[in-house]
Amino acid sequence: MTPGADADGRAAPPVVRLGVVDSTQAVALELAERGAADRTVVVADHQRAGRGRRGRAWTDEPGGSLLASIIVRARLAMPLLPTLSLTTAVAVAEALRRVAGVAARLKWPNDVRVGGRKIAGILLESHFGGGGAEASPVTVIGVGVNLVQATFPPELAEVATSVLLETGRRVERDAVLGVLLEEFDRWRGRLEGEGFGAVRARWLALSDTIGGPVSVNGVAGTAVDLAEDGALLVDTGSAIRRVSSGEIDPVAGRAGD
Ligand code: BTN
Repeated sequence: MTPGADADGRAAPPVVRLGVVDSTQAVALELAERGAADRTVVVADHQRAGRGRRGRAWTDEPGGSLLASIIVRARLAMPLLPTLSLTTAVAVAEALRRVAGVAARLKWPNDVRVGGRKIAGILLESHFGGGGAEASPVTVIGVGVNLVQATFPPELAEVATSVLLETGRRVERDAVLGVLLEEFDRWRGRLEGEGFGAVRARWLALSDTIGGPVSVNGVAGTAVDLAEDGALLVDTGSAIRRVSSGEIDPVAGRAGD
């Protein structure tokens, strides 16, 4: 195979490697707005202002994490766009299993956890509108994976973990990135080609959430299933309620919830 090309001889999409940035999301969104190709990836060694979900910060120690943002010009009907986030969670869990033997599980919608502690986080930011090549929505998928942290700050110590803490091994960031992109391309391809069915089945098999108690967006009960569009189905005892977005509230006494 020609270096830098895939099995069909197509040029591999670029990986933009940076040192210190505020956020790879910001860099990738700017590149996307300037017309960067689908599946362009931005990777950095350290973020000064890493973004987490719901306006939270995402912190890292320099060189200690995989910090990547993937530009995606998805070939998906609009109602299926949210499933990209669950698809990415499946890809991250599969990559961690392949590259490090980590038995990662998924908390709805897209936290990747081991033993109830978060090992990777995923953030999707979409940009709609614009003309020309930008007429279709562009989504930037940010993935942060804790790789070699031996300790975490006190506020994260009970809820976060790393590949090093789980396996005793220091995995190379680029090895994780390479496998992650393979898994991402594979699961994204299935999502765009076949719909959400296969990804949904894999997400359910990896789920930490289904069958357990949840409280999300004011809906409390037992998580019973994932809908065809990625919504969480919650049995409240009197009805099955759909929750399309949000974050599961912590359950008292359970690390990482
Ligand atoms: C979460 O809150 O769980 C999502 C965290 C996402 C962090 C990643 S790190 C790479 C990319 N750049 C950012 O600023 N955030 C995402």
